[in-house]
Amino acid sequence: MRKKVDFLIIGSGIAGLTYALKVAEFGKVIIISKAIADETSTKYAQGGIAAVMSSPDSYKKHIEDTIDAGAGLCNKEIVEMTINESTERIKELIKWGTDFDKQTDGSYSLSREGGHSENRILHHKDTTGKEIIRALLQAAKEHKNIEILERHFAIDIITQHHLGLRVYSRTKNIQCYGAYILNPDNNEIFSVLSKVTLIATGGAGNVYRTTTNPRVATGDGIAMAYRAKAKVENMEFIQFHPTSLYNPGESPSFLITEALRGHGAILRNKHGEAFMPKYDKRKDLAPRDIVARAIDTEMKINGTNHVFLDSTHLDKEILIKEFPAIFEKCMSIGIDIREDMIPVIPAAHYTCGGIKVDSNSKSTIANLYASGECSSTGLHGANRLASNSLLEAVVFSHNAAIDSVEAVKTITWKDEIPHWNAEGTIMNEEMILITQTQNELRLIMNSYVSIVKSDLRLQRALDRLHLIYHETEELFNISILNKELCELRNSINTAYLIVKQAKSRRSNIGLHYSIDLIGK
Ligand code: FAD
Ligand code: SIN
Repeated sequence: MRKKVDFLIIGSGIAGLTYALKVAEFGKVIIISKAIADETSTKYAQGGIAAVMSSPDSYKKHIEDTIDAGAGLCNKEIVEMTINESTERIKELIKWGTDFDKQTDGSYSLSREGGHSENRILHHKDTTGKEIIRALLQAAKEHKNIEILERHFAIDIITQHHLGLRVYSRTKNIQCYGAYILNPDNNEIFSVLSKVTLIATGGAGNVYRTTTNPRVATGDGIAMAYRAKAKVENMEFIQFHPTSLYNPGESPSFLITEALRGHGAILRNKHGEAFMPKYDKRKDLAPRDIVARAIDTEMKINGTNHVFLDSTHLDKEILIKEFPAIFEKCMSIGIDIREDMIPVIPAAHYTCGGIKVDSNSKSTIANLYASGECSSTGLHGANRLASNSLLEAVVFSHNAAIDSVEAVKTITWKDEIPHWNAEGTIMNEEMILITQTQNELRLIMNSYVSIVKSDLRLQRALDRLHLIYHETEELFNISILNKELCELRNSINTAYLIVKQAKSRRSNIGLHYSIDLIGK
């Protein structure tokens, strides 16, 4: 089977859907989603989306906060462009039906998170992402030009490589012609030929054992782009969210939004000491890299496997009203956030790097765009400012849409693309090998490539990754493909990029911190 489409979008989170809604006016769109369409990181976003809505806030302040959090590695022009567009893009989300909380006077209720000098986070209680995805998905489902293929898995993007040419990272003018898609229901792999392709596959938290990310976040798009020889950068900047609920055995870890600290909650160690003032003058609202490292240090000093987040001094009624999902979740495991401190632990949360794109979201491969968490735009530098990622996704998908509706006018389909060759492959009888390797991978990354790294730990990780990489490639080449095997392969590729790029970063900056680089 073969499908032809103007715009192929891989991923149905905020990046994929906002792009779809814009380009659908100009041609046929197919969205591929490997799970049901709303199962995305977007759906789990809690705190909200950062944007400049009213004084005393200003674009200047939001720009400065973003650059400050990024520890000197942000691209200033990109930061300015993104923040200056923030208000317009929020208006669009509202036009598509998103309901952000308001105050009694009708103005938007704006909360604060770490690294922000003003209250500027638009939110829908503590379930902002669920509300955004609800609105966007409904609009996309109603659009006659948008077809959503749920539970379909994009295996690889198609380039000249699939026409038998040798493609290297320095090959000039690599082109994307679409993607090979697996339908796990019948094991069929078909091609979608597209004029323009957008990778919007989200992050890679699941290469770690402890993560806030839903299961879908396995770095697929980053790995696909890397295999196709697109430039992938800044993968060493994996952001650990300081406060996920410490609830051993639960995976993914439930997030305790930073907005709770913005609301006045305080981090305490096992002695009840509010420790953040020792680490930063912004205390509990310092940027995430600083807070996560402080927690890591406190746990090591005190020999504990978590610290506490204390909200017991806050107004109890407002607490429940503003944070109903957190209240309910904690209650379900016997913690009443009005009376009890919440045990919390840092967890892998956000992939700051990814597929390198320009200000129009164009990757280094022609006709291939990337937006959202899978991309590296230059906005986040060495550490993303809280709630800037939903914003980044809407701004860059907007720019990608403007650029690509022009581009499709001169692009034709590549009809000579061959069908996927599955000759000689056999049904894999040992699914357990895939599960075990996935567990091994997550353990390697948790143990050796976490908040605090060292040269030795990174080398150990690399040695172990080599082994599981070769085993998994072998399995991939002989097996009738399934989603789990493809995800494992992608996760290993992504983990390899994290480790390799961490090894080559020779100074401590933002989220990248190694004991061998102290003072460098
Ligand atoms: P996603 O929303 O993750 O969507 C990815 C899509 O790609 C999914 O549809 C998935 O099925 C699909 N996909 C992936 N691989 C394939 C494949 N091979 N084939 C087919 N489909 C594929 N950011 C903020 O700004 N504010 C917040 O408050 C906030 N809170 C967060 C809370 C949590 C718990 C988490 C996990 C993240 C949070 N973030 C927050 C980060 C933010 O939610 C994400 O960065 C953002 O939603 C990513 O959007 P996306 O569209 O890039 O990807
Ligand atoms: C949170 O609500 O703390 C998450 C915000 C983010 O990741 O930007």
